[in-house]
Amino acid sequence: MNSHDVERVAIDLGERSYDILIGSGLLGRADTFEGLPAGAAAAIVTNETVAPLLAARLTQALRPTFAQVQLIVLPDGEAHKNLATLNTIFDALLGAACDRKTIVFALGGGVVGDMAGFAAACYMRGVPYVQVPTTLLAQVDSSVGGKTAVNHPLGKNMIGVFNQPLRVIADLEVLDTLPAREFSAGLAEVIKYGPIADESFLQWIEGNLPALLDRDRAALRHAVRRSCEIKADIVARDEREAAVRELLNFGHTFGHAIESGLGYGEWLHGEAVGCGMVMAADLSRRLGLIDRAYQDRIARVVERAGLPVRGPRLGSARYLELMRVDKKARDGEIRFVVIESPGRAGVRTAPDALVAQVIDDATA
Ligand code: NAD
Ligand code: GLY
Repeated sequence: MNSHDVERVAIDLGERSYDILIGSGLLGRADTFEGLPAGAAAAIVTNETVAPLLAARLTQALRPTFAQVQLIVLPDGEAHKNLATLNTIFDALLGAACDRKTIVFALGGGVVGDMAGFAAACYMRGVPYVQVPTTLLAQVDSSVGGKTAVNHPLGKNMIGVFNQPLRVIADLEVLDTLPAREFSAGLAEVIKYGPIADESFLQWIEGNLPALLDRDRAALRHAVRRSCEIKADIVARDEREAAVRELLNFGHTFGHAIESGLGYGEWLHGEAVGCGMVMAADLSRRLGLIDRAYQDRIARVVERAGLPVRGPRLGSARYLELMRVDKKARDGEIRFVVIESPGRAGVRTAPDALVAQVIDDATA
């Protein structure tokens, strides 16, 4: 395949269907933006780190189509993913007199994507938006599927809506500038898809980790495409997370406890998810679902991806308290995504004492 070829993964949601475009150099290609509804204004929502790297490239690409291209630059970081920052997006849109035909372009990682998508859902009761993910994590996960949110001091992603984008533009070239720690964090969400949905993909990741860590474009293209295919299939079956979409939260229940327990931004989301998957694999084994060898494989691939496999010492009581705020919890009972067998996940409850053992062993 030519390195300039564009791959399309369709996400089938009836009238809310859209394509994920995957390729190198997409931001510089006119056809990347073809077919988007014409509007007078485009509003690029980005952050102070991404703006100097990519805002000019996207602005230039949008100029032929939009009379006005507004740039809205947010502070960088998970700590700013809150209602106060969201309000600054509304201030900027209103200040620039952006109307209901405005298209919002979310240019950045998951933090920007989640906030810009939420802002688009609310601004003038809803304007369309396009995801232009610039981190690996955003390309394989957060830009796909329409979950948007901000954090609340009492819980992560607690205030938000489902709002599907018009298109996702995953340009592999933009990943060149991503810091190594952020790249590894993105690999956590790539790895996730193997144990929950596709055992052969896990084997492929195990064999191709060195190429992925070298950011080999062909390896990246495959990893992003396969991740998006798996996510698109799950979201198409369960857009609003009534059932099967919960499986995408493998590692996230433990991971969210780590993130909120330490304070948002201390550990990266992907780092917390990586460590959370190691804990969830241990829980799966203790529940008698998988053997030690499979648990070890998951821990090993997480570690090789450059991610932490031991959690911070918050104490098991604190972990349990934090996990009860998880959106999957029902009537105060924590529900965990576990591996039922290689490549297949399910949701289970577990006795607190057993979960505490997992935590104690993973944080000692
Ligand atoms: P992030 O958005 O904070 O980006 C990570 C860092 O990389 C930031 O400092 C950012 O400025 C920088 N950056 C972005 N692109 C860059 C580039 N091309 N070159 C150099 N630096 C770049 O973090 P993330 O890991 O992308 O996303 C994490 C967020 O996504 C969390 O808030 C999480 O809750 C959310 N999330 C949402 C979903 C969903 O379905 N909506 C799924 C998973 C995660
Ligand atoms: N990141 C989990 C989901 O989109 O459902």
